[in-house]
Amino acid sequence: MVSPQRRVIVVGAGSGIGAATATHFHQRGDHVLAIDVRPNDTPAARHELCDLRDASAITALLGRIGPDWDALAYVAGLPGTAPAADVLKVNYLGMRLFTTGMLPLLRQGAAIVTVASVAALGWQQRLGDLEGLLDAADAESVERWQATQDPNYPVYSTSKQAAIIYAKRLAPAAWRKYGVRVNTVSPGPTETPILADFEDSMGKEVLDTVKATIGRHATVADIVPVIAFLGSPESRWINGQDIHVDGGFVAPLSVGAPVAL
Ligand SMILES: NC(=O)c1ccc[n+]([C@@H]2O[C@H](COP(=O)([O-])OP(=O)(O)OC[C@H]3O[C@@H](n4cnc5c(N)ncnc54)[C@H](O)[C@@H]3O)[C@@H](O)[C@H]2O)c1
Repeated sequence: MVSPQRRVIVVGAGSGIGAATATHFHQRGDHVLAIDVRPNDTPAARHELCDLRDASAITALLGRIGPDWDALAYVAGLPGTAPAADVLKVNYLGMRLFTTGMLPLLRQGAAIVTVASVAALGWQQRLGDLEGLLDAADAESVERWQATQDPNYPVYSTSKQAAIIYAKRLAPAAWRKYGVRVNTVSPGPTETPILADFEDSMGKEVLDTVKATIGRHATVADIVPVIAFLGSPESRWINGQDIHVDGGFVAPLSVGAPVAL
């Protein structure tokens, strides 16, 4: 049976996981709107350019794309090698503005999937620290908050922690008011162009240790089906969850010694 065409938006579709996500939906026959700051030739029905650091660009884009979308995959992200304010704007604030702006444009039963990261590990312990960031709904407030923070704490982790917490806080209301689910996917290290920046900002030895522990880094083909599933009606009772897609690297960290076989 051929499944019906759906209308899907992929944000950050110009490269890596986002490009593979847009290609996946396009190839299964969906109508895909591919959004990125960079011009790109990712397969899609329509392309739009948008700089997610710019709230007015997001508002303008949402004003011209019309309603009746079935899924939003917010995949765009900047690594910790980018300026801190940009990292927070693209990975957290842009996601927040895009997601909440999209809610009235999504159909009942639609789904939002944001790509976070295993680098957000420990977000539960940072709820208090991040309250000021989670109160910040514009660029000035985000920058003011960042100016008060320890510059040694990795801003990439902060941005992804805030994205996960925000998505979890949004999920119940989005479901009740719009019938829309909100989940996040947290990949482990994945072979895309951003990986070199991660080696710079997190340390190559850290990423090599992860690789040695589980045997390899992920490829985009490991991540995309999870985004597709959470963005589809098949996952209709999953809401407000963060799903690790990391080959099992993270799971043993919080449960003591792994079982020896
Ligand atoms: N690759 C990994 O190891 C890994 C691991 C965990 C999480 N992630 C996350 O996965 C997501 C996708 O990353 P990727 O690995 O495909 O990297 P990538 O660099 O290949 O893709 C990121 C995309 O985001 C877009 N983008 C950046 N700034 C933007 C802006 N201001 N406006 C609009 N678009 C912008 C880029 O143009 C690019 O197309 C990111 O959120 C990243 O943080 C990646």
